[in-house]
Amino acid sequence: MARKQDRRRAGPEQLRPRAAHAVRWRFEDLPETHFLDDVLAGLSRPQKALAPKYFYDARGSALFEAICRLPEYYPTRAELALTRAHLDDIARFAGRGCELIEFGSGASVKMRLLIRRLQPVHYVAIDISQAALQRAVARLAREFPRLQITAVVGDFSRPIDLPRALGRRVAYFPGSTIGNLLPQEAEGFLHMTRGLVGRGGAMLVGVDCKKDANVLHAAYNDARGVTAAFNRNLLARMNAELGANFDLRRFRHYAFYNASRGRVEMHLVSLLRQRVAIGRHRFDFDAGETIHTENSHKYSVEEFQAFARDAGFTPRKVWRDRRALFALHGLRAA
Ligand code: SAH
Ligand code: AVI
Repeated sequence: MARKQDRRRAGPEQLRPRAAHAVRWRFEDLPETHFLDDVLAGLSRPQKALAPKYFYDARGSALFEAICRLPEYYPTRAELALTRAHLDDIARFAGRGCELIEFGSGASVKMRLLIRRLQPVHYVAIDISQAALQRAVARLAREFPRLQITAVVGDFSRPIDLPRALGRRVAYFPGSTIGNLLPQEAEGFLHMTRGLVGRGGAMLVGVDCKKDANVLHAAYNDARGVTAAFNRNLLARMNAELGANFDLRRFRHYAFYNASRGRVEMHLVSLLRQRVAIGRHRFDFDAGETIHTENSHKYSVEEFQAFARDAGFTPRKVWRDRRALFALHGLRAA
């Protein structure tokens, strides 16, 4: 029940946290209207698959934040460390007083560093998870009471209608969320943001680097099983929102590095032959058959810069952490 309430379209008045008087809310075409159609289509494919954007209901967002605190999950710490270490240079690149637009803002942790240093005229946070967005902007509004904030509940893989620009636009896409898109989708996304920031605009993109497969394996197979819970939560979400009857004990988390595709893949493995109902639809699983739930592509600096160029950006800067685990790319609209 709580799950359903989280997702329900609520008016801005209901949502506005008390302290966040400066927050404006916008609701794009909400993802739950597509959830059932996407699930039915995804589970009908020879390789059953679901889009990773559906991980992020309220519990999924909370589990992701727990993943970020795990000792094995290095990307968040590496990106935070490099952002702190290079903040002056990043600020020179982005410029003070710009309009910052963040895609997949989640808890907006890294953004707080940028806001403090860049003093943007406007912060636009876009996320598919209303719950994560609510918590994040309430906190930001308390911390930066004079900052104008627009919170957009929407899917960045679809066209998004943004408010009129209040300053030179700088898009921010941290966390290597770009790695969760297929390469052609990532290029399409960069193309879209190139159009959005316009001439003179810029983009900062956080990208996880290629590395020792053992480090990757540990990051997506943590000892405490938080990543497994994050993956299996998708089954719980289908049960709660789509009337499915997945038995979570009959599916196991499986993640591995697919070197030929340069990506970590997450799957849910059916432990036995079984039939699952989703409303009036039925899906059969063989023992060992999987639902492919996420790709997390890892890119070398050169690979990512080639994408950015194809999308109409000029790569200008690359900032890395000391261990070169993670890269933040500074791109200018060409
Ligand atoms: N930027 C944060 C969070 C990354 S997790 C960080 O760097 O730690 C990925 C975030 O993107 C989640 O908050 C998730 O809800 C959001 N997200 C994933 N797919 C999305 C989509 N298609 N549209 C909008 N937001 C999406
Ligand atoms: C949000 N995204 C970049 C994370 C990743 O690493 O691909 C999501 C995640 N999946 C498993 N652990 C974390």
